[in-house]
Amino acid sequence: MIMSVIIDAEKRLFTLHTRNTTYQMKADSLGSLLHIYYGERTDESDKSYAICMKSRGFSGNPYEMGRDHSDYSLDVLPQEYSCYGTGDYRISALKIQNSDGSFAASLQFKEYQISRGKYAIPGLPAVYAKEEEADTLEIILEDLVSEVEVQLLYGVLFENDIITRAVKIINRGADRIVLQKAASINMDWINGDYEWLTFYGGHARERNIQRDALGHGIHAIGSVRGASSHHYNPFAIVCERNTDENKGACYGFSFLYSGEFLMEAEKDQINQTRLICGIHPDNFEWNLQPGGQFDTPEVMMTYSSRGFGALSRNLHKTIRQNICRGEWKEKRRPVLINNWEATYFNFTGEQLVTIAKSAAELGIELFVLDDGWFGKRDDGNSGLGDWFPNEKKLECTLKELAEKIVGCGMKFGLWFEPECISEDSDLYRKHPEWAVMIPGRKPDLSRNQLILDFSREDVQDYIIGRLSSIFEETPIGYVKWDFNRSICDKYSMALDMLSQREFAHRYVLGLYRVLETLTVEFPHILFEGCSGGGGRFDAGMLYYTPQIWCSDNTDAIARLGIQYGTSFGYPVSAMGSHVSAVPNHQTSRITPFSTRSCVAMAGTFGYELDVTKLSEEEKKMVRQQIGRFKEYYDLIQYGEYYRLQAPTDSQCTVWEMADPEGREVLVSAVYHHVEANVAPVIVKVQGLNAGASYRMSLNMDDMGNIQGWRRKWFEEHMPYGYKNEETITGAALQQCGLVIPEALENYQAWQIHIVEV
Ligand code: GLA
Repeated sequence: MIMSVIIDAEKRLFTLHTRNTTYQMKADSLGSLLHIYYGERTDESDKSYAICMKSRGFSGNPYEMGRDHSDYSLDVLPQEYSCYGTGDYRISALKIQNSDGSFAASLQFKEYQISRGKYAIPGLPAVYAKEEEADTLEIILEDLVSEVEVQLLYGVLFENDIITRAVKIINRGADRIVLQKAASINMDWINGDYEWLTFYGGHARERNIQRDALGHGIHAIGSVRGASSHHYNPFAIVCERNTDENKGACYGFSFLYSGEFLMEAEKDQINQTRLICGIHPDNFEWNLQPGGQFDTPEVMMTYSSRGFGALSRNLHKTIRQNICRGEWKEKRRPVLINNWEATYFNFTGEQLVTIAKSAAELGIELFVLDDGWFGKRDDGNSGLGDWFPNEKKLECTLKELAEKIVGCGMKFGLWFEPECISEDSDLYRKHPEWAVMIPGRKPDLSRNQLILDFSREDVQDYIIGRLSSIFEETPIGYVKWDFNRSICDKYSMALDMLSQREFAHRYVLGLYRVLETLTVEFPHILFEGCSGGGGRFDAGMLYYTPQIWCSDNTDAIARLGIQYGTSFGYPVSAMGSHVSAVPNHQTSRITPFSTRSCVAMAGTFGYELDVTKLSEEEKKMVRQQIGRFKEYYDLIQYGEYYRLQAPTDSQCTVWEMADPEGREVLVSAVYHHVEANVAPVIVKVQGLNAGASYRMSLNMDDMGNIQGWRRKWFEEHMPYGYKNEETITGAALQQCGLVIPEALENYQAWQIHIVEV
């Protein structure tokens, strides 16, 4: 018996339940599949009474309804999958060009199917689950004129409060049709005033939050850059007006897709709100031959009536457990050191080994050799595509270098940018047709490089072959998969004129095929995604790479905002974060060493600096930091994440990682500036057991440069609860709060470990 999908076959009423939410839809007398409800858990009774049937001027009526039904209009009815061209004038999910050239589709209910387990999507990332953890409902709609069949797929993960959606479109007719828009989701709310949170940014400034009212008109975010982009993340939250971190209704929509996307919302003439999310239609068209099938990427939805915090935790859990795959999903990730900010392109093999040796002595477990190890690559102008080690620069073979590093007791990792090609490269000289360009036009250069045409199977196979042989010959434990430009000049020499608008999506399918092949073939390799930092930070990539370099901005204070924004949709275990040198290379800011490590610990944790240049005192701190990261590993990577104070609204950003049983919590606080005589920062800790008592401990290693009388004074005047014999109850910490010790210097960070006694 499938409990999360309840169907009243006679009424053609479909109800999906998760532990705390309910979703309902119904096929009406005309066969239109109407959306009825999504929100707080309720019963299976038919809620379509709430849909207002009233004649609206200029909102037309389907012919089939006859003359007496001017109250029935697709222009105002809430729908599960709206179509362009047949009476719904709002933004729509599906736009088809039929074989006769017309643009019209009108979908009627045909049948449904339920099954245990979660559906998969061929060639695309998708949430997965054990058979007993999920159910699938498939509703089949058809257009009786063009014989197009549309299968709406719903995956219900009961315990996670997650419902996924994807669409399969099949041409059952006798002629070719063209999909001009095939969104993954249409979500209609029949009432309510909503706002949405979107996550905008730029290179080194990713995922800032913007909260806007969804007033009348069309509101949109998206990307036409070939990748999901730094500029808008393919994730949004729609919420009621007063929703905040801990209260209020909100809906999360995360698109499992790494290419061009469009998320649009429209408030209509009777104040209903519609959200559409899918592949961006600007650079999209898909030719569907008779019998052909098109699969849209998936959207993962969640609803919380308890604010953004609970919504984020639903997504964190699902990304960690039901999107990330492979050995590294559960395995403890190594503390790494990356040589990029230490050396950039200027290194010798000997220098790398020296850094690795010194890092190994400090307890660092993985050495990552970044850009510049291959082809002719001493700056950003040449060599991409030539994935052959530069043995002159390395002063040995890559295998020998890797063995030397492995000999230091570390794993060896390597940087690649497989999707790009330099004009000055042997690969380009051999295969100019593999570069993405429009014949007869000069291509747009970005970082002086071009895109390799990943829509071509021969290119995909070449990259799979080249990288596989490096992975086979060299003891590689980690790969950083970078992608450092946006895609324009969208054209493939391998596609005919009619198919050129398939290029952008074919590119993403090609990328996924390459990643799927390599990650399955080399399961022991930990893959980290990257695109100039966080330019392709999406739930689609996390299906292949369980972590992604969050931003090229390594400044701890800038990272507070970037990681804060990212945390709304993605777990800490996905965010690549490193301790780097000061003055910071992006902002020139000088922050304490302990602050940099505290912020990097809200991510995968590693170092990106020349450890050979550290003082003895700093080396001691590195050992302590690594020890602490390992001690708190489970809390950090798998704990429940709570945002306690935002970087924007206080003198101090505070977050918390709690074990799900509430026995142990790590609170991290970073001051944005130091001030004299300020009010204390008090935060309400979450996720504790109200009746239990807790002891707080402060990491005195974080005192950094503060010594002498100030340190002594500070130690003597610690807030209550920080001395060994002092305890505070869970109820008090949750309701009255935890006092964060004051800042002793600019950008002071504190990590407070709270343990049940
Ligand atoms: C991108 C990455 C960096 C580094 C450089 C190398 O910018 O985000 O971390 O790997 O490329 O060129």
